[in-house]
Amino acid sequence: MSSQASSVALVRFDAVAPLRARVSEWKAAGERVVLVPTMGALHRGHLSLVNRGRELGQRVIVSIFVNPTQFGPSEDFSRYPRDTETDLALLAGAGVDAAYLPSVETMYPKDFSTSLTVAGITDGLCGAYRPGHFAGVATVVTKLVNQVQPDIALFGEKDFQQLQVIRRAVRDLDIPVEIGGVPTLREEDGLALSSRNRYLDAEERRIAPIIHRELTRIAEGLRTGKAASPLVAASTDRLTEAGFSTIQYLSVCDADTLAPVEHATGPTRILVAAYLGSTRLIDNVAV
Ligand code: PAF
Repeated sequence: MSSQASSVALVRFDAVAPLRARVSEWKAAGERVVLVPTMGALHRGHLSLVNRGRELGQRVIVSIFVNPTQFGPSEDFSRYPRDTETDLALLAGAGVDAAYLPSVETMYPKDFSTSLTVAGITDGLCGAYRPGHFAGVATVVTKLVNQVQPDIALFGEKDFQQLQVIRRAVRDLDIPVEIGGVPTLREEDGLALSSRNRYLDAEERRIAPIIHRELTRIAEGLRTGKAASPLVAASTDRLTEAGFSTIQYLSVCDADTLAPVEHATGPTRILVAAYLGSTRLIDNVAV
């Protein structure tokens, strides 16, 4: 952590021009600028991205924008948790230099007509169940990066498909930013930290960590040379027995392309999305 960064108070920006001017000053002074895009409802997982940002650069900017275009019509956009004052207090305490809170009009001016489709890698997993979601994510992240012009943008590995989609878009379009992934932060019982965990009631919260236990179990099986399909079938049964109502996918994939694989011969990721009551949980582990 640089002493210079920690002595600077959090500055809030709502508009692009003053934020860009500040970023230009920082860059002119030779400082590396890190952007952490978020939708707010911040928790320790987000703060671990901030901490990583402070290791990688001298200035950290956190954006907070609940992006309407990445929510489907039946998803939780309107009830997505929003608590800006608490978020800003957390960011100030974490030594963040700037918070960027654009309005919907700034992000999507009247007659906004552009959407970024990243083909192939968005077809399966969450993409199969959330049509348009990754186009919404890719579009808003491209906008945020263009607006802020950071050297580095950081994303949690918890949303692993999102991270790989963003990496692909940035590579394909030569967007001048380095993308970094930050490992998932977990509760002591293994549950991945998520803004949506607050939707779980006490009984669901007790069951939720089983999802990580099953991912770990499949990873161990793959490491001993077992095939994916029977491991996945057994874990799916156990998740259902434990109380998960719908398991949208539980898949063993090539970590780069996210294509399904039967054996972990190269970099491999196991990804899951499942409903517990009305809460959709996602998680993933590396093999
Ligand atoms: O992961 C999130 O919080 C969002 O998908 C992101 C990357 C901030 C884009 O809205």
